[in-house]
Amino acid sequence: MAPLMTPRHPRRPSPARRARACLALALTLILALALPNALGAPPADERELVELPAPMRAHMLANMRDHLAAIETVSRLLATGDYGAAADVAESRLGMSAMQAHGGRHMAPHMPEGMRAIGSAMHRAASRFAVAARDAEVDDDLGAAFAGLAEVMAQCVACHGAYRVH
Ligand code: HEC
Repeated sequence: MAPLMTPRHPRRPSPARRARACLALALTLILALALPNALGAPPADERELVELPAPMRAHMLANMRDHLAAIETVSRLLATGDYGAAADVAESRLGMSAMQAHGGRHMAPHMPEGMRAIGSAMHRAASRFAVAARDAEVDDDLGAAFAGLAEVMAQCVACHGAYRVH
């Protein structure tokens, strides 16, 4: 009885086998690339770090939370047609008046030039929005008021994309 021998030169792998091997390789590659992200590795943070004294940073972040609350209030007031009230909130909490009330002048010297510029662009945009909201009371041009509000938010987005404080 002839012993069962394994062939010395195995046949070339069948196309199906090669396809499975390719698939396994592709899956391994995909896993290797995707796993670090799936495990929560943060994407690179390219924003510029602005080092503020701790009390000033806390003060600034509190202002920020109020900015967001103000945007919410303003949107709500526009929705209910309270244009004058929307204008008042925008001017006093985000506009040029807010910059003075929130100690903008005190904080500005600690900020890089670009950040300062975006900050004052935001205050100016909010004051312009307040005018557009008051106009809406007369001409009902909500489109102009919303465009003005978007201009304010564009400054939030621009600054958040470029700077961080921690
Ligand atoms: C001139 C720059 C600048 C502008 C303009 C700006 N922000 Fe910020 N904001 C920052 C920075 C810097 C941080 C801290 C981000 C970080 O360190 O990760 C921040 C943080 C915040 C936070 C988080 C606060 C916390 O407690 O951590 C909120 C909310 C916020 N901003 C809302 C707004 C809104 C809404 C606007 C626009 C109406 C706005 N910001 C405009 C720079 C800005």
